[in-house]
Amino acid sequence: MNSVLHVLPDGIGGEDNIQPSGCFHGMIGTHPLMLELFNKIRAAATLDAPVIVQGETGTGKELVANALAHLSKRRGRLVAINLAEVSDNLIESLLFGSVRGAFTGALDHSGLLEHAADGVLYLDEAGELPLALQTKLLRVIETKQVRRVGSLQERRAEFRLLLSVQSPPEMLVGQGRWRNDFRFRVDGIILTVPPVRERISDVPLLVNHFLTTAGNPALPVQYLADLMAYRWPGNVREIRRVVERARFAAVGSVVQPDHLIQQLPALDNLKEDLTDTHPEREHFETTLQRAGFRSKVAARLLGLSLPTFYRRLKELGIQPPRFRVY
Ligand SMILES: Nc1ncnc2c1ncn2[C@@H]1O[C@H](COP(=O)(O)OP(=O)(O)OP(=O)(O)O)[C@@H](O)[C@H]1O
Ligand SMILES: [Mg+2]
Repeated sequence: MNSVLHVLPDGIGGEDNIQPSGCFHGMIGTHPLMLELFNKIRAAATLDAPVIVQGETGTGKELVANALAHLSKRRGRLVAINLAEVSDNLIESLLFGSVRGAFTGALDHSGLLEHAADGVLYLDEAGELPLALQTKLLRVIETKQVRRVGSLQERRAEFRLLLSVQSPPEMLVGQGRWRNDFRFRVDGIILTVPPVRERISDVPLLVNHFLTTAGNPALPVQYLADLMAYRWPGNVREIRRVVERARFAAVGSVVQPDHLIQQLPALDNLKEDLTDTHPEREHFETTLQRAGFRSKVAARLLGLSLPTFYRRLKELGIQPPRFRVY
């Protein structure tokens, strides 16, 4: 995903029951593991305890979190942030806010914990939460009060906490990435999202979902055996990508099974884009932090026009911490 905040797809709310097509809040699946997951989401929505959504990359954790947030019927907003996309030194003031003078050039700004008041705070990739901030977050959960960085003043921060992780909590503790006390506080309700290889009967459904939403006719299941035998390390996201590539390969005509099958080995060769580090990066990040993550203010502090600022951010490989408030 490219954005810090995963923008929630439109129109996923509403259907409280699983549709005959196997669609529950935008999630396709009729495998028993998925039906169990949908039931657990519904049950979790009636409670107010923290929820951990655990699953491999691309399994649909974000969709689960969205469904849960919609069903939770909290008065406040859903505030979501992907911690893997924010550098460690920015996470604290982004979550907790800061006051003028807290660090060089800091300005007053509220953090996401305050923004989420009476709503839902979704920390995506919560395995990345630095240890010191786990203690701070624990305190906020207990007291429902937050102190901005550099301030002793308590401000209200009452929210439902959703966390998504790729590894199970006990593994995060074992690896020293999560504090034990943090894990025990948040490890109440776990929603496990199964990988595609554990629900291969859903593969034709997913392939046809991505085909038909793009205007292609659905393919009969008997032609999709090769796709069902594949292990799908990238899970549903990978299925989506295979369908997109197949559509490209079909150059405007109807996608045939071969178009799909030809995409499988190629995907194994996909390389991640790596962005070089750059000394200017730190300066940009510090400025963003000072500006309370408001791009306009940061651009002004750097003496750049907004388009130049965005272009330079991109060149430096910095994702401006975008968060969305609903
Ligand atoms: N059950 C599903 N039905 C339809 N589309 C799905 C399903 N699960 C995932 N997707 C789609 O697959 C893509 C990846 O899903 P999502 O971003 O929710 O995965 P994730 O588990 O959060 O991945 P990551 O760990 O990489 O953040 C998205 O485009 C999403 O809409
Ligand atoms: Mg995700």
